[in-house]
Amino acid sequence: MIPVVASDWDVPDRLHRICLTENLPLPNSSSENLWLPYTQMKTTAQPLHVTSTDGVRLTLADGRVLIDGIASWWTACHGYNHPHIVDAIVAQAQQMPHVMLGGIVHDQALRLSQRLAAITLGEASKVFFSESGSVAVEVALKIAVQYWMNRGATKRKRFICFDGAYHGDTSGAMAVCDAEDSMHSHFKGYLIEQFPQSIPATPEQFRAFESFVAQRAGSVAGVIIEPLIQMAAGMRMHSVESLNAITTICRRHGVLVIADEVATGFGRTGTFFAYQQTEFVPDVLCLGKALTGGCVPLAATIATPEVYSAFHSDNTQNALMHGPTFTGHAIGCAAANASLELFESQPRLAQVKGINATLQRNLNVLNDADGVTEVRILGAVAAIELADRIDTGLAIDAFAAMGVFVRPIGNVVYLAPSFTISTPDLETLCVAVKRFLAALPEVTRST
Ligand SMILES: Cc1ncc(COP(=O)(O)O)c(C=O)c1O
Repeated sequence: MIPVVASDWDVPDRLHRICLTENLPLPNSSSENLWLPYTQMKTTAQPLHVTSTDGVRLTLADGRVLIDGIASWWTACHGYNHPHIVDAIVAQAQQMPHVMLGGIVHDQALRLSQRLAAITLGEASKVFFSESGSVAVEVALKIAVQYWMNRGATKRKRFICFDGAYHGDTSGAMAVCDAEDSMHSHFKGYLIEQFPQSIPATPEQFRAFESFVAQRAGSVAGVIIEPLIQMAAGMRMHSVESLNAITTICRRHGVLVIADEVATGFGRTGTFFAYQQTEFVPDVLCLGKALTGGCVPLAATIATPEVYSAFHSDNTQNALMHGPTFTGHAIGCAAANASLELFESQPRLAQVKGINATLQRNLNVLNDADGVTEVRILGAVAAIELADRIDTGLAIDAFAAMGVFVRPIGNVVYLAPSFTISTPDLETLCVAVKRFLAALPEVTRST
């Protein structure tokens, strides 16, 4: 028998071990105090209780082991618990978990900023660290507005953004999300109104977009776009041609281009960054999620030397006015440096190519399935869009019963696994998706 309390902080762990030893039901920790994101706590299904992770597998408290199809919101690109990243985190935690970047710098942040600059907007670009994708977007928006202010253009404070966009949950980021279709429609009137547009796709739409930009340019600081895939909107994809047209037009009218690659960065679309499939280089780039291999919260906003030059001055008021407590967090930077080392030493982009081929081979056939309106596949992402919305709770349970973890968004079932997933595991996920679709009427609702 294990004594019940040894110290304050190991109580949950001990309770857990007691339950496992004595075969008792596990405590329902989620419903008592934990407030889950985007969840109606009153009616939500009981969430799966994960106790450990390994590679592409989640182990549940009831002993089940699931193959994870979505890599914790697309972050765990090297799989879970990669020893190279775990070792770097442990070593950094022992040496120096965190120091503020006010008046202090440290090796991990210096190294990471240098590396990120070199692989993105050029060696002279500047990297600002924060702790979430939403904040990376806030910083990008503030950089764009302050860039114009520092140059004396005080009226350029608004943004062009796109239908279907999702850039995060803080107020500035919410304001550039899809106003109707995103989770933020509740906050109309609270958010600054921006200039939402449909992503243009035809020559006629490119012309209409250009005349819109031309009319508004005097009050616009920048355009913000998720290059190639709007992942949170249900893996909505647009073409390289659309992206090239948008950026060319914005450049022509002096509008700064912000690429939000929080979700698409680090190989997800088949190239290291999605914008690299186009002819353009953004003025400002937002990164997050897979930056640390999904292990620790860290995000980055990167600006070209030209953008940065508006801040580099003898006037202290021209300095970038942003400073999160945990900017450049040492453990986060150590994890990100280790993750970049894995990208350098492991064939991650080749693995993405292999995943893409398996997804195409297994899932394209669903284009003809009942209830399916579209199958979209790019890089290591596959989305099957259905005519009806899916009940997320029922879907999670149905997938778990098949030994996998898949969590649909709205009416879209999708896979975005770790890049280290084996072909048999990925095929198991694809089979589960097909079996799920065969049982569609039971897991959809028409609202
Ligand atoms: C493109 C994009 N930008 C920003 C965010 C917000 O990132 P975070 O959840 O880390 O704040 C997300 C999250 O899904 C995203 O997909």
